[in-house]
Amino acid sequence: MKQATIHIDRNFKLADVDERIYGSFIEHLGRAVYGGIYQPGSPLSDEQGFRSDVLALIREAKVPLVRYPGGNFVSGYHWEDGVGPKEQRPRKLDLAWSVIESNQFGLNEFMDWCKKAGTSPMMAVNLGTRGAEDAKNLIEYCNIEKGSYYSDLRRSHGAADPYGIKLWCLGNEMDGPWQMGHKTAEEYGRLAEETGRIMRMVDPEIELVACGSSSLSMPTFGSWEETVLEHCYDEADYLSLHTYYGNPEDKTPDFLASSVAMDDFIRSVVSICDCVKAKKRSRKQINLSFDEWNVWYHSNEDDKKLERWIQAPHQLEDVYNQEDALLVGSMLITLLRHADRVKIACLAQLVNVIAPIMTSDTGAWRQTIFYPYMYASVYGRGAVLQTVVDVPSYESVYGDAPFLDAVVLTDEEKETLTVFAVNKDLEESMTVSCDLRQYADYRILEHIELAEPDLKAVNTQLCPDNVCPKKSDESRIEDGRLTAVLKPKSWNVIRLGK
Ligand code: AHR
Repeated sequence: MKQATIHIDRNFKLADVDERIYGSFIEHLGRAVYGGIYQPGSPLSDEQGFRSDVLALIREAKVPLVRYPGGNFVSGYHWEDGVGPKEQRPRKLDLAWSVIESNQFGLNEFMDWCKKAGTSPMMAVNLGTRGAEDAKNLIEYCNIEKGSYYSDLRRSHGAADPYGIKLWCLGNEMDGPWQMGHKTAEEYGRLAEETGRIMRMVDPEIELVACGSSSLSMPTFGSWEETVLEHCYDEADYLSLHTYYGNPEDKTPDFLASSVAMDDFIRSVVSICDCVKAKKRSRKQINLSFDEWNVWYHSNEDDKKLERWIQAPHQLEDVYNQEDALLVGSMLITLLRHADRVKIACLAQLVNVIAPIMTSDTGAWRQTIFYPYMYASVYGRGAVLQTVVDVPSYESVYGDAPFLDAVVLTDEEKETLTVFAVNKDLEESMTVSCDLRQYADYRILEHIELAEPDLKAVNTQLCPDNVCPKKSDESRIEDGRLTAVLKPKSWNVIRLGK
């Protein structure tokens, strides 16, 4: 059995957790909106057409933030098409995903839905086919109380109070050649700076996210971040990162090592932000918004066969298995281990489209990845302790990968400690120990594990609980030391308190 030691010190806090790192994402894509969160006429929907069963699962996961309306979709979107009387809303071609967009769900529906889901919006503006003028109009529609054309237009659409949306993305993946209106770093940096400045003239209290690279593998990675920030350093508060991993060749150890690549990605972007800060002699720090991250590959082949110009097809409907849940758990640990700089993150996406929640016309169920996401969001609050992990590692395509990913959080008010841990060893259990003498009167509240031995096991509507967390009695505290046994290929949360 492998041995690992976790070292913490009560006085060594890395950072308070910004709850927005447990954000998610709803794009007009596939069945995320239509048939996902919105299905008027369904017996499972409320009077506004919102799926109540889906809302319940989103509240269960305490999703604090939802990015909307895209994604690639936003780069061709006219937000005006989605407001006002539904019978007058145009059906349009969505060139991002080659489908028809009916516009029956738009900004006002999304804001009503956010209230019911207990979440807050992260709104993206179209900097692909549009620009500063439309972003200005949109923020006027959303955030000005009354007395101007767009604020009164909102009121005429039944929303008397301004929405006060405070978090905005300046476009989406503008470095990507697949993006409508994609740009060079120079072009985008200038546009982001101009647009941000004009949006702030309407509402000075907003926070802005500038687009970083679409992934670490983009040929322009690095120089894109530097050039963009050189232009919009004063306007941007956050720089975005996106990443998706997959296991198409069934190389599980490499797949599980993807969190090493994510860690490198974060470190690199932090360095570039701080390099530009130094060059500008600025006192302002740019933080990170990891606003798209997940596993995405299972649906790629099916998506190539889709008919064009249909509505809400089954698109990007990855069915997740145990090993995907392990990696999602590791990615969440990686985000937490960078809580000093990563302040926002969005699991992409939330419903049906590469999502923790799936629906059919007759129900909704939790995919495997729902569990690490939900438990992190519910229990991963408070402050992250600097967590040093002493464990053997293995060779992977990303370099040395530790067999154990772990992070410890403390909530001094609630007097709790929470350990998230993934044992990546496919064969052996692992004994993990941690000196807890500084928490002398803490005991184990629970140890929950996701330890399904079949890495390819999935949940379906017929077998929704095939892969689900179980209580473990493999943790104990003796002589001020926590000792826990983690099963092979398992995700774990160990909660301690008084
Ligand atoms: O989340 C799916 C897509 O992935 C998004 O639309 C885009 O931003 C990214 O490439």
